[in-house]
Amino acid sequence: MFTRRKALKTIGLGSLAMGSRSFLFAQPTTDGGNPLAIPPLEEGELIEGVRHFQLRLQQGTSSFFPGTTTATLGINGNYLGPSLHLHRNEPISLHIENQIGEPTTLHWHGFHLPPSEDGGPHQTIAKGDTWNPQFTVRQFAGTFWYHSHMLHTAGEQVYKGLAGMIIVEDDEQQLELPSTYGIDDIPLIVQDRRFDDDGAFQYLSAYEDSVIGMHGDTILLNGTRLPYFEATSRLVRFRLLNAANARTFTFAFSDGREFQQIASDGGLLPSPVALTRLELAPAERAEIVVDFSDGRDVKLLSLGRTSNFPEFSGAMSRIMRSLNAQAFDILSIRPQAQLQANTQLPAQLASLYRLPEAAATNTRKFLLSMGAGMRSGDDRGPGRGTRNGNGGGYGGGNSSINGRRMELNFINERIKFNTTEVWELSNNSPMMHPFHVHHGQFQILDRNGQPPPENEMGWKDTVKVRSGEHMRIIMRFTDYIDEQNPYMYHCHILEHEDQGMMGQFLVVE
Ligand code: C2O
Ligand code: CU
Ligand code: CU
Repeated sequence: MFTRRKALKTIGLGSLAMGSRSFLFAQPTTDGGNPLAIPPLEEGELIEGVRHFQLRLQQGTSSFFPGTTTATLGINGNYLGPSLHLHRNEPISLHIENQIGEPTTLHWHGFHLPPSEDGGPHQTIAKGDTWNPQFTVRQFAGTFWYHSHMLHTAGEQVYKGLAGMIIVEDDEQQLELPSTYGIDDIPLIVQDRRFDDDGAFQYLSAYEDSVIGMHGDTILLNGTRLPYFEATSRLVRFRLLNAANARTFTFAFSDGREFQQIASDGGLLPSPVALTRLELAPAERAEIVVDFSDGRDVKLLSLGRTSNFPEFSGAMSRIMRSLNAQAFDILSIRPQAQLQANTQLPAQLASLYRLPEAAATNTRKFLLSMGAGMRSGDDRGPGRGTRNGNGGGYGGGNSSINGRRMELNFINERIKFNTTEVWELSNNSPMMHPFHVHHGQFQILDRNGQPPPENEMGWKDTVKVRSGEHMRIIMRFTDYIDEQNPYMYHCHILEHEDQGMMGQFLVVE
Protein backbone atom coordinates (compact mmCIF):
# COMPACT_ATOMS: atom_id res chain seq x y z
CA MET A 1 0.00 0.00 0.00
CA PHE A 2 1.12 3.49 -0.83
CA THR A 3 0.92 5.01 2.62
CA ARG A 4 0.92 8.67 3.44
CA ARG A 5 4.27 8.52 5.17
CA LYS A 6 5.98 6.60 2.41
CA ALA A 7 4.56 8.93 -0.16
CA LEU A 8 5.75 12.01 1.64
CA LYS A 9 9.23 10.59 1.91
CA THR A 10 9.51 9.59 -1.71
CA ILE A 11 8.52 13.01 -2.94
CA GLY A 12 10.66 14.75 -0.36
CA LEU A 13 7.88 16.74 1.24
CA GLY A 14 8.27 15.25 4.68
CA SER A 15 9.72 18.30 6.31
CA LEU A 16 7.44 20.69 4.49
CA ALA A 17 4.25 18.96 5.46
CA MET A 18 5.14 17.63 8.87
CA GLY A 19 8.19 19.28 10.37
CA SER A 20 6.93 22.80 10.48
CA ARG A 21 4.83 23.91 13.41
CA SER A 22 3.75 27.17 11.88
CA PHE A 23 1.21 27.57 9.15
CA LEU A 24 2.07 27.73 5.50
CA PHE A 25 -0.39 30.51 4.86
CA ALA A 26 0.64 32.59 1.91
CA GLN A 27 0.17 36.28 2.48
CA PRO A 28 -2.38 37.56 0.01
CA THR A 29 -0.76 39.78 -2.57
CA THR A 30 -3.41 40.29 -5.23
CA ASP A 31 -7.09 39.61 -5.49
CA GLY A 32 -6.40 37.24 -8.38
CA GLY A 33 -6.44 34.40 -5.92
CA ASN A 34 -4.19 32.84 -3.33
CA PRO A 35 -2.69 29.36 -3.18
CA LEU A 36 -4.74 27.19 -0.85
CA ALA A 37 -3.04 26.92 2.54
CA ILE A 38 -2.57 23.37 3.77
CA PRO A 39 -2.48 23.09 7.57
CA PRO A 40 0.65 21.21 8.67
CA LEU A 41 0.09 17.52 9.35
CA GLU A 42 0.97 16.96 12.99
CA GLU A 43 2.19 13.44 13.73
CA GLY A 44 2.95 14.01 17.38
CA GLU A 45 5.77 12.16 19.07
CA LEU A 46 5.60 8.46 19.77
CA ILE A 47 7.00 7.71 23.23
CA GLU A 48 6.67 4.13 24.49
CA GLY A 49 3.60 3.44 22.42
CA VAL A 50 1.78 6.65 23.33
CA ARG A 51 1.52 9.44 20.79
CA HIS A 52 2.07 12.85 22.39
CA PHE A 53 0.83 16.16 21.03
CA GLN A 54 1.61 19.71 22.14
CA LEU A 55 -1.13 22.18 21.33
CA ARG A 56 -0.85 25.83 22.23
CA LEU A 57 -4.05 27.85 21.96
CA GLN A 58 -2.91 31.36 21.18
CA GLN A 59 -3.80 34.83 20.00
CA GLY A 60 -2.45 36.02 16.69
CA THR A 61 -3.03 38.20 13.69
CA SER A 62 -3.81 37.14 10.15
CA SER A 63 -3.93 39.04 6.90
CA PHE A 64 -6.94 37.86 4.89
CA PHE A 65 -7.14 41.00 2.73
CA PRO A 66 -4.10 42.81 1.34
CA GLY A 67 -3.00 45.59 3.65
CA THR A 68 -5.23 44.66 6.59
CA THR A 69 -4.75 42.59 9.71
CA THR A 70 -7.35 40.61 11.63
CA ALA A 71 -7.06 39.63 15.27
CA THR A 72 -7.43 35.83 15.25
CA LEU A 73 -7.05 32.75 17.42
CA GLY A 74 -5.11 29.66 16.46
CA ILE A 75 -3.55 26.45 17.65
CA ASN A 76 0.24 26.40 17.21
CA GLY A 77 -0.30 29.24 14.75
CA ASN A 78 -2.26 32.37 14.00
CA TYR A 79 -5.48 30.92 12.66
CA LEU A 80 -6.92 27.37 12.94
CA GLY A 81 -4.67 24.49 13.96
CA PRO A 82 -2.61 21.67 12.50
CA SER A 83 -4.29 18.54 11.14
CA LEU A 84 -3.75 15.91 13.80
CA HIS A 85 -2.81 12.55 12.31
CA LEU A 86 -4.10 9.79 14.59
CA HIS A 87 -4.07 6.03 14.31
CA ARG A 88 -6.90 3.72 15.22
CA ASN A 89 -6.28 1.85 18.49
CA GLU A 90 -3.31 4.01 19.45
CA PRO A 91 -3.27 5.70 22.89
CA ILE A 92 -2.65 9.43 22.73
CA SER A 93 -1.83 12.13 25.22
CA LEU A 94 -2.33 15.82 24.50
CA HIS A 95 -0.71 18.69 26.30
CA ILE A 96 -2.89 21.73 25.76
CA GLU A 97 -1.87 25.19 26.82
CA ASN A 98 -4.43 28.00 26.96
CA GLN A 99 -2.83 31.30 25.99
CA ILE A 100 -5.88 32.98 24.46
CA GLY A 101 -6.45 35.24 27.45
CA GLU A 102 -9.82 33.79 28.48
CA PRO A 103 -11.16 30.37 29.50
CA THR A 104 -11.76 27.82 26.79
CA THR A 105 -12.06 24.07 26.13
CA LEU A 106 -10.94 21.80 23.31
CA HIS A 107 -13.35 19.12 22.13
CA TRP A 108 -12.63 16.08 19.91
CA HIS A 109 -15.69 16.14 17.69
CA GLY A 110 -16.93 12.71 16.66
CA PHE A 111 -14.74 10.73 19.05
CA HIS A 112 -15.82 7.88 21.25
CA LEU A 113 -13.90 8.47 24.49
CA PRO A 114 -14.40 8.84 28.25
CA PRO A 115 -16.52 11.95 28.93
CA SER A 116 -13.82 13.39 31.22
CA GLU A 117 -11.48 13.61 28.19
CA ASP A 118 -14.11 14.95 25.78
CA GLY A 119 -13.28 18.65 26.04
CA GLY A 120 -16.89 19.66 26.50
CA PRO A 121 -18.15 22.60 28.57
CA HIS A 122 -17.12 20.92 31.86
CA GLN A 123 -13.45 20.52 30.93
CA THR A 124 -12.69 24.22 31.09
CA ILE A 125 -9.06 25.25 30.73
CA ALA A 126 -8.61 28.46 32.72
CA LYS A 127 -6.69 31.32 31.19
CA GLY A 128 -2.99 30.48 31.28
CA ASP A 129 -3.68 26.91 32.38
CA THR A 130 -2.97 23.56 30.77
CA TRP A 131 -5.02 20.40 30.22
CA ASN A 132 -3.76 16.92 29.55
CA PRO A 133 -6.42 14.62 28.12
CA GLN A 134 -5.49 11.00 27.38
CA PHE A 135 -7.47 8.44 25.51
CA THR A 136 -7.26 5.65 22.99
CA VAL A 137 -8.33 6.35 19.43
CA ARG A 138 -11.35 4.13 18.78
CA GLN A 139 -12.47 5.69 15.53
CA PHE A 140 -12.44 4.10 12.13
CA ALA A 141 -10.36 5.86 9.49
CA GLY A 142 -12.03 9.16 8.73
CA THR A 143 -12.16 12.92 9.03
CA PHE A 144 -12.95 14.53 12.38
CA TRP A 145 -12.19 17.85 13.98
CA TYR A 146 -11.42 19.65 17.20
CA HIS A 147 -12.74 22.98 18.38
CA SER A 148 -13.59 25.15 21.37
CA HIS A 149 -16.68 24.04 23.32
CA MET A 150 -16.70 26.81 25.93
CA LEU A 151 -20.24 27.43 27.15
CA HIS A 152 -21.58 30.74 25.75
CA THR A 153 -18.36 31.61 23.90
CA ALA A 154 -17.68 28.60 21.65
CA GLY A 155 -19.24 30.49 18.73
CA GLU A 156 -16.96 33.47 19.04
CA GLN A 157 -13.83 31.40 19.75
CA VAL A 158 -14.37 29.06 16.80
CA TYR A 159 -15.21 32.04 14.59
CA LYS A 160 -11.87 33.60 15.49
CA GLY A 161 -10.02 30.39 14.64
CA LEU A 162 -10.07 27.79 17.44
CA ALA A 163 -10.59 24.72 15.27
CA GLY A 164 -8.62 22.16 13.32
CA MET A 165 -8.98 18.88 11.44
CA ILE A 166 -8.28 15.37 12.70
CA ILE A 167 -7.40 12.61 10.27
CA VAL A 168 -7.68 9.09 11.62
CA GLU A 169 -5.87 6.37 9.79
CA ASP A 170 -6.53 2.67 10.21
CA ASP A 171 -3.24 0.91 9.76
CA GLU A 172 -5.03 -2.35 9.17
CA GLN A 173 -7.05 -1.07 6.29
CA GLN A 174 -5.54 -1.84 2.90
CA LEU A 175 -7.43 0.42 0.54
CA GLU A 176 -5.98 2.12 -2.49
CA LEU A 177 -7.29 5.65 -1.98
CA PRO A 178 -5.56 8.95 -2.70
CA SER A 179 -3.74 9.47 0.61
CA THR A 180 -0.77 11.78 0.14
CA TYR A 181 -1.57 14.64 2.45
CA GLY A 182 -1.45 18.01 0.71
CA ILE A 183 -0.93 16.42 -2.70
CA ASP A 184 -3.91 14.21 -3.57
CA ASP A 185 -5.50 14.08 -0.09
CA ILE A 186 -6.56 17.62 0.69
CA PRO A 187 -8.16 19.01 3.85
CA LEU A 188 -10.85 21.61 3.09
CA ILE A 189 -11.95 23.51 6.19
CA VAL A 190 -14.83 25.62 4.90
CA GLN A 191 -15.91 28.73 6.81
CA ASP A 192 -17.78 31.95 6.08
CA ARG A 193 -16.76 35.18 7.77
CA ARG A 194 -17.75 38.84 7.79
CA PHE A 195 -15.23 41.65 8.04
CA ASP A 196 -15.12 45.34 8.90
CA ASP A 197 -13.45 47.70 6.44
CA ASP A 198 -10.27 47.59 8.50
CA GLY A 199 -10.17 43.80 8.29
CA ALA A 200 -11.48 43.01 11.79
CA PHE A 201 -13.92 40.10 12.14
CA GLN A 202 -17.53 41.10 12.66
CA TYR A 203 -19.29 38.90 15.19
CA LEU A 204 -22.93 39.16 16.27
CA SER A 205 -23.29 42.63 14.85
CA ALA A 206 -26.70 42.20 13.21
CA TYR A 207 -30.04 41.24 14.74
CA GLU A 208 -30.34 38.03 12.72
CA ASP A 209 -26.89 36.78 13.76
CA SER A 210 -28.22 35.50 17.05
CA VAL A 211 -31.43 34.20 15.49
CA ILE A 212 -30.12 32.10 12.60
CA GLY A 213 -26.49 32.03 13.71
CA MET A 214 -23.49 33.92 12.42
CA HIS A 215 -23.28 34.02 8.63
CA GLY A 216 -20.63 35.80 6.58
CA ASP A 217 -20.20 36.94 2.98
CA THR A 218 -16.55 35.90 2.63
CA ILE A 219 -15.37 32.32 2.33
CA LEU A 220 -12.18 31.17 4.00
CA LEU A 221 -10.85 27.77 3.03
CA ASN A 222 -8.18 26.55 5.46
CA GLY A 223 -7.97 30.25 6.29
CA THR A 224 -7.32 31.25 2.66
CA ARG A 225 -9.53 33.79 0.91
CA LEU A 226 -10.03 33.32 -2.86
CA PRO A 227 -8.09 30.06 -2.86
CA TYR A 228 -6.83 28.08 -5.83
CA PHE A 229 -5.43 24.58 -5.87
CA GLU A 230 -3.12 23.14 -8.52
CA ALA A 231 -4.09 19.50 -8.93
CA THR A 232 -1.17 17.26 -9.82
CA SER A 233 -3.00 13.94 -10.01
CA ARG A 234 -6.00 12.62 -11.88
CA LEU A 235 -7.93 11.72 -8.75
CA VAL A 236 -7.98 14.00 -5.72
CA ARG A 237 -9.57 13.23 -2.38
CA PHE A 238 -11.03 16.27 -0.63
CA ARG A 239 -11.85 16.06 3.07
CA LEU A 240 -14.70 18.53 3.36
CA LEU A 241 -15.33 19.90 6.84
CA ASN A 242 -18.09 22.43 7.30
CA ALA A 243 -16.50 24.44 10.10
CA ALA A 244 -18.85 27.38 9.66
CA ASN A 245 -20.71 28.62 12.72
CA ALA A 246 -24.11 28.42 11.05
CA ARG A 247 -24.03 28.21 7.26
CA THR A 248 -25.03 25.11 5.33
CA PHE A 249 -23.12 24.62 2.09
CA THR A 250 -24.39 22.85 -1.01
CA PHE A 251 -21.23 21.76 -2.78
CA ALA A 252 -21.17 21.22 -6.54
CA PHE A 253 -18.72 21.77 -9.41
CA SER A 254 -19.07 24.64 -11.87
CA ASP A 255 -19.37 22.21 -14.82
CA GLY A 256 -21.79 19.96 -12.95
CA ARG A 257 -19.33 17.07 -12.96
CA GLU A 258 -19.98 13.99 -10.92
CA PHE A 259 -17.87 13.13 -7.88
CA GLN A 260 -17.77 10.18 -5.51
CA GLN A 261 -18.50 10.49 -1.82
CA ILE A 262 -16.44 7.86 -0.02
CA ALA A 263 -16.90 8.78 3.65
CA SER A 264 -19.36 10.50 5.98
CA ASP A 265 -18.80 11.84 9.53
CA GLY A 266 -17.64 8.61 11.10
CA GLY A 267 -15.67 7.01 8.27
CA LEU A 268 -15.92 5.15 4.99
CA LEU A 269 -19.21 4.37 3.30
CA PRO A 270 -19.78 0.77 2.13
CA SER A 271 -19.08 1.87 -1.46
CA PRO A 272 -18.56 5.18 -3.29
CA VAL A 273 -21.74 7.17 -3.87
CA ALA A 274 -21.88 9.17 -7.12
CA LEU A 275 -23.21 12.70 -6.60
CA THR A 276 -23.35 16.04 -8.39
CA ARG A 277 -24.21 18.01 -5.28
CA LEU A 278 -23.69 17.51 -1.60
CA GLU A 279 -25.20 19.44 1.28
CA LEU A 280 -23.20 19.73 4.50
CA ALA A 281 -24.54 21.44 7.60
CA PRO A 282 -22.21 22.86 10.26
CA ALA A 283 -19.89 20.16 11.71
CA GLU A 284 -20.74 17.56 9.04
CA ARG A 285 -17.86 16.05 7.09
CA ALA A 286 -17.62 14.21 3.81
CA GLU A 287 -14.68 12.80 1.91
CA ILE A 288 -15.11 13.05 -1.84
CA VAL A 289 -12.94 11.88 -4.73
CA VAL A 290 -12.94 13.99 -7.89
CA ASP A 291 -11.52 13.12 -11.31
CA PHE A 292 -9.51 15.88 -13.03
CA SER A 293 -8.26 13.72 -15.94
CA ASP A 294 -9.80 16.08 -18.50
CA GLY A 295 -7.26 18.71 -17.43
CA ARG A 296 -9.84 21.49 -17.37
CA ASP A 297 -10.00 24.26 -14.82
CA VAL A 298 -13.09 23.95 -12.68
CA LYS A 299 -14.52 25.52 -9.56
CA LEU A 300 -15.91 23.95 -6.44
CA LEU A 301 -18.99 26.01 -5.60
CA SER A 302 -21.59 26.29 -2.93
CA LEU A 303 -24.96 26.72 -4.60
CA GLY A 304 -27.46 29.29 -3.39
CA ARG A 305 -30.76 27.91 -2.23
CA THR A 306 -34.21 29.21 -2.89
CA SER A 307 -36.31 29.28 0.21
CA ASN A 308 -39.87 28.04 0.43
CA PHE A 309 -40.46 29.99 3.61
CA PRO A 310 -43.59 32.15 3.10
CA GLU A 311 -43.15 35.76 2.12
CA PHE A 312 -44.71 38.29 4.45
CA SER A 313 -43.71 41.66 5.75
CA GLY A 314 -41.35 41.94 8.69
CA ALA A 315 -37.89 40.77 9.66
CA MET A 316 -38.80 37.14 10.22
CA SER A 317 -39.74 36.37 6.63
CA ARG A 318 -36.76 38.30 5.25
CA ILE A 319 -34.31 36.51 7.54
CA MET A 320 -35.69 33.03 6.89
CA ARG A 321 -35.88 33.56 3.14
CA SER A 322 -32.28 34.78 3.03
CA LEU A 323 -30.99 31.70 4.82
CA ASN A 324 -28.33 29.96 2.70
CA ALA A 325 -29.58 31.84 -0.37
CA GLN A 326 -26.15 33.15 -1.29
CA ALA A 327 -23.94 31.21 -3.73
CA PHE A 328 -20.15 31.11 -3.32
CA ASP A 329 -17.01 30.12 -5.15
CA ILE A 330 -15.26 27.79 -2.72
CA LEU A 331 -12.12 26.73 -4.59
CA SER A 332 -10.60 27.20 -8.06
CA ILE A 333 -8.98 23.98 -9.21
CA ARG A 334 -6.29 24.17 -11.87
CA PRO A 335 -5.11 20.75 -13.06
CA GLN A 336 -1.47 20.78 -14.11
CA ALA A 337 -0.32 19.67 -17.56
CA GLN A 338 1.08 16.29 -16.48
CA LEU A 339 -1.30 14.55 -14.12
CA GLN A 340 -0.11 11.70 -11.95
CA ALA A 341 -2.15 8.56 -12.51
CA ASN A 342 -3.77 7.11 -9.37
CA THR A 343 -5.16 3.67 -8.97
CA GLN A 344 -8.85 3.12 -9.60
CA LEU A 345 -11.25 3.91 -6.81
CA PRO A 346 -12.19 0.57 -5.17
CA ALA A 347 -15.80 -0.51 -5.67
CA GLN A 348 -16.05 -1.70 -2.04
CA LEU A 349 -14.81 0.51 0.74
CA ALA A 350 -15.92 -0.83 4.11
CA SER A 351 -18.28 -3.45 5.40
CA LEU A 352 -20.88 -1.58 7.33
CA TYR A 353 -22.82 -3.10 10.18
CA ARG A 354 -26.27 -1.52 10.29
CA LEU A 355 -27.51 -1.31 13.87
CA PRO A 356 -30.76 -3.28 13.97
CA GLU A 357 -33.75 -1.35 15.22
CA ALA A 358 -34.84 -4.43 17.15
CA ALA A 359 -31.75 -4.11 19.36
CA ALA A 360 -33.03 -0.84 20.82
CA THR A 361 -34.44 -1.13 24.33
CA ASN A 362 -35.39 2.50 24.82
CA THR A 363 -36.67 5.46 22.82
CA ARG A 364 -36.14 9.11 23.69
CA LYS A 365 -37.70 12.13 22.08
CA PHE A 366 -35.99 15.44 21.40
CA LEU A 367 -37.93 18.46 20.20
CA LEU A 368 -35.93 21.27 18.63
CA SER A 369 -37.65 24.63 19.01
CA MET A 370 -37.03 28.31 18.69
CA GLY A 371 -40.02 29.76 20.49
CA ALA A 372 -42.89 31.83 19.14
CA GLY A 373 -41.75 34.41 16.67
CA MET A 374 -38.21 33.52 17.70
CA ARG A 375 -37.94 36.73 19.71
CA SER A 376 -37.07 35.84 23.20
CA GLY A 377 -39.93 36.38 25.56
CA ASP A 378 -38.35 34.30 28.27
CA ASP A 379 -36.19 36.35 30.53
CA ARG A 380 -35.61 33.68 33.14
CA GLY A 381 -33.66 30.98 31.34
CA PRO A 382 -30.02 30.23 32.05
CA GLY A 383 -29.01 32.12 28.91
CA ARG A 384 -30.20 35.43 30.27
CA GLY A 385 -27.71 38.22 30.32
CA THR A 386 -24.94 36.26 28.62
CA ARG A 387 -22.28 38.39 26.99
CA ASN A 388 -23.64 37.61 23.52
CA GLY A 389 -26.82 39.40 24.40
CA ASN A 390 -28.88 36.23 24.08
CA GLY A 391 -31.99 35.98 26.13
CA GLY A 392 -33.37 38.90 28.02
CA GLY A 393 -35.66 39.90 25.19
CA TYR A 394 -32.98 40.03 22.51
CA GLY A 395 -33.64 37.89 19.46
CA GLY A 396 -32.99 34.22 19.19
CA GLY A 397 -32.76 33.48 22.87
CA ASN A 398 -35.46 30.84 22.75
CA SER A 399 -33.52 28.07 21.00
CA SER A 400 -34.17 25.02 23.13
CA ILE A 401 -34.35 21.25 23.23
CA ASN A 402 -37.45 19.77 24.86
CA GLY A 403 -38.25 23.26 26.08
CA ARG A 404 -35.10 23.50 28.16
CA ARG A 405 -31.83 25.28 27.84
CA MET A 406 -28.46 23.94 28.87
CA GLU A 407 -27.64 24.16 32.55
CA LEU A 408 -24.24 22.93 33.61
CA ASN A 409 -25.65 21.33 36.76
CA PHE A 410 -28.68 19.67 35.24
CA ILE A 411 -28.45 16.17 33.77
CA ASN A 412 -31.17 15.85 31.14
CA GLU A 413 -30.85 12.13 30.42
CA ARG A 414 -29.44 9.00 32.07
CA ILE A 415 -28.61 6.15 29.75
CA LYS A 416 -27.96 2.59 30.75
CA PHE A 417 -24.51 1.34 29.85
CA ASN A 418 -24.30 -1.23 27.04
CA THR A 419 -27.71 -0.53 25.60
CA THR A 420 -28.95 0.55 22.22
CA GLU A 421 -31.40 3.44 21.94
CA VAL A 422 -33.51 5.10 19.31
CA TRP A 423 -33.65 8.88 19.48
CA GLU A 424 -36.56 10.60 17.78
CA LEU A 425 -35.67 14.09 16.64
CA SER A 426 -38.37 16.58 15.68
CA ASN A 427 -38.04 20.16 14.61
CA ASN A 428 -40.99 22.54 15.00
CA SER A 429 -38.95 25.67 14.26
CA PRO A 430 -38.73 27.46 10.90
CA MET A 431 -35.13 26.43 10.18
CA MET A 432 -32.90 23.36 10.02
CA HIS A 433 -30.82 22.46 13.09
CA PRO A 434 -27.77 20.18 12.79
CA PHE A 435 -28.16 17.85 15.80
CA HIS A 436 -24.90 16.52 17.20
CA VAL A 437 -24.39 13.83 19.83
CA HIS A 438 -21.17 13.36 21.77
CA HIS A 439 -20.06 9.85 22.79
CA GLY A 440 -19.57 8.57 19.28
CA GLN A 441 -21.22 7.66 16.04
CA PHE A 442 -24.84 6.81 15.31
CA GLN A 443 -26.86 5.74 12.29
CA ILE A 444 -29.94 7.28 10.73
CA LEU A 445 -32.96 4.98 10.72
CA ASP A 446 -35.36 7.21 8.83
CA ARG A 447 -36.51 10.73 7.98
CA ASN A 448 -40.25 11.27 7.96
CA GLY A 449 -40.55 7.49 7.70
CA GLN A 450 -38.28 7.24 4.66
CA PRO A 451 -34.88 5.54 4.72
CA PRO A 452 -31.99 8.02 4.40
CA PRO A 453 -30.19 8.54 1.09
CA GLU A 454 -27.22 6.26 0.40
CA ASN A 455 -24.62 8.78 1.53
CA GLU A 456 -26.33 9.06 4.93
CA MET A 457 -26.37 5.30 5.51
CA GLY A 458 -22.93 5.29 7.14
CA TRP A 459 -21.72 6.47 10.54
CA LYS A 460 -22.81 9.96 11.54
CA ASP A 461 -22.34 12.21 14.54
CA THR A 462 -24.19 15.27 13.24
CA VAL A 463 -27.44 15.18 11.35
CA LYS A 464 -29.63 17.79 9.68
CA VAL A 465 -33.08 17.95 11.23
CA ARG A 466 -35.00 20.12 8.81
CA SER A 467 -37.90 22.35 9.63
CA GLY A 468 -40.98 20.21 10.24
CA GLU A 469 -39.00 17.02 9.99
CA HIS A 470 -39.30 14.00 12.20
CA MET A 471 -36.42 11.58 12.15
CA ARG A 472 -34.96 8.67 14.06
CA ILE A 473 -31.35 7.79 14.83
CA ILE A 474 -29.97 4.71 16.55
CA MET A 475 -26.95 4.55 18.81
CA ARG A 476 -25.11 2.16 21.13
CA PHE A 477 -23.75 3.33 24.48
CA THR A 478 -20.63 1.29 25.24
CA ASP A 479 -17.21 1.25 26.88
CA TYR A 480 -17.31 4.20 29.25
CA ILE A 481 -19.37 4.39 32.42
CA ASP A 482 -19.13 7.65 34.33
CA GLU A 483 -21.65 8.72 36.95
CA GLN A 484 -20.14 12.21 37.17
CA ASN A 485 -19.13 13.45 33.75
CA PRO A 486 -21.83 13.94 31.13
CA TYR A 487 -21.74 13.92 27.36
CA MET A 488 -23.46 16.68 25.38
CA TYR A 489 -26.04 16.70 22.62
CA HIS A 490 -26.78 19.97 20.89
CA CYS A 491 -27.51 22.00 17.83
CA HIS A 492 -24.21 22.67 16.04
CA ILE A 493 -25.20 26.14 14.93
CA LEU A 494 -22.76 27.57 17.42
CA GLU A 495 -24.86 30.60 18.36
CA HIS A 496 -27.76 28.26 19.18
CA GLU A 497 -25.44 26.08 21.22
CA ASP A 498 -24.14 29.14 23.08
CA GLN A 499 -27.74 30.15 23.80
CA GLY A 500 -28.25 26.78 25.44
CA MET A 501 -29.72 24.63 22.66
CA MET A 502 -27.86 21.78 24.32
CA GLY A 503 -28.43 19.04 26.86
CA GLN A 504 -26.39 16.50 28.81
CA PHE A 505 -26.52 12.77 29.40
CA LEU A 506 -24.72 10.35 31.66
CA VAL A 507 -23.93 6.77 30.71
CA VAL A 508 -24.53 4.84 33.93
CA GLU A 509 -24.40 1.31 35.28
CU1 C2O B 1 -18.48 19.82 17.44
CU2 C2O B 1 -20.37 19.35 20.91
O1 C2O B 1 -19.35 19.64 19.20
CU1 CU C 1 -18.80 16.90 19.37
CU1 CU D 1 -30.02 25.36 15.83
